[in-house]
Amino acid sequence: MSSSPDYEIPIRPRRLRSTKNIRRMARETRLSTDNLIAPQFVMDGENEREEVSSMPGVYRRTIDRLVDHAETLQDLGIPAVALFPALPDPLKTPDAEHALDPDHLYPNAIRALKDAVPELMVITDTALDPYNADGHDGIVRDGRIDNDATIQVMCQMAILHAEAGADIIAPSDMMDGRVGAIRDALDSSGHTDVAILAYTAKYSSNYYAPFRDALDSAPKSEAEAPEKELPDDKDTYQMDPANGEEAVRELRLDLDEGADMVMVKPALPYLDVIHRVQAHSDVPVAAYNVSGEYAMIKAAAQNGWLDGKACAMEALTGIRRAGANLILTYFAEDAARHWLSK
Ligand code: PBG
Repeated sequence: MSSSPDYEIPIRPRRLRSTKNIRRMARETRLSTDNLIAPQFVMDGENEREEVSSMPGVYRRTIDRLVDHAETLQDLGIPAVALFPALPDPLKTPDAEHALDPDHLYPNAIRALKDAVPELMVITDTALDPYNADGHDGIVRDGRIDNDATIQVMCQMAILHAEAGADIIAPSDMMDGRVGAIRDALDSSGHTDVAILAYTAKYSSNYYAPFRDALDSAPKSEAEAPEKELPDDKDTYQMDPANGEEAVRELRLDLDEGADMVMVKPALPYLDVIHRVQAHSDVPVAAYNVSGEYAMIKAAAQNGWLDGKACAMEALTGIRRAGANLILTYFAEDAARHWLSK
């Protein structure tokens, strides 16, 4: 017999926590493979993969290996990949012109993926950082990132990706007006069916460091290019981590310009932003659980300080609960293969 208190407890939320099955019945948030997008890094070469040192378990793959892996992801039920190219240094130039070469690693990878696994959605990235010797997402002129010149290139990139078979174009550059310009460019080149996933609220975050390792794409400091007086951060185009209202403004612009889906990035330090954007959005909201968020959990797990699987699942569930319909995450494969089905 339980001891009765001398005061009343009329409402007892613990009833809905008392067994596994009642917890399942009361659960508000579901995570499924439908929600997952797997980012992928592709590099030149044949039959090779290299682990990204700051992202254990994440690889750069040559196109043939990427295609094999994509088949696995498709079999696991993951609906989409987001593709990023790792270019060798000599192909990175101040004008990033390699981005528009119709026969290079990136469009070739898109074509190979769509040939081999046509059902798998391919999300391509339009930003110049993998191609730019400066490591910036845009064209740099006189030490500044030139918004409108960048958009011109972005539009041509979008058409190139669409011609190679991209299903969804994802501008990750944060230039003003690029969603509308890309929509126009796609429509006037006959690609009306290609969707746009806008990086709507992309913050100038320190959590991108392992991704920049993966692509060797960190913005070059003045020491490396002193004559250019370049900023060694992306603060003039990516958002200030202190701002939340501004995300709603960016959302309004992207929706007006025709975004089919929108994104908040990173995810975990910005759960309030995900919530705000979801509340104002009538299109699917994605969140990018970025490289640094992955690396933190992995590193702690490798040290035996955290249970990696449990913490990853808790993080992904939290991102869903905050309001993300889709999550770009380096945990996608593990979640789909081992964690979600059980
Ligand atoms: C660049 C880009 C970045 C990421 C995706 N696209 C890095 C940056 O803006 O410097 C980061 C993704 C991650 O950290 O996982 N256009």
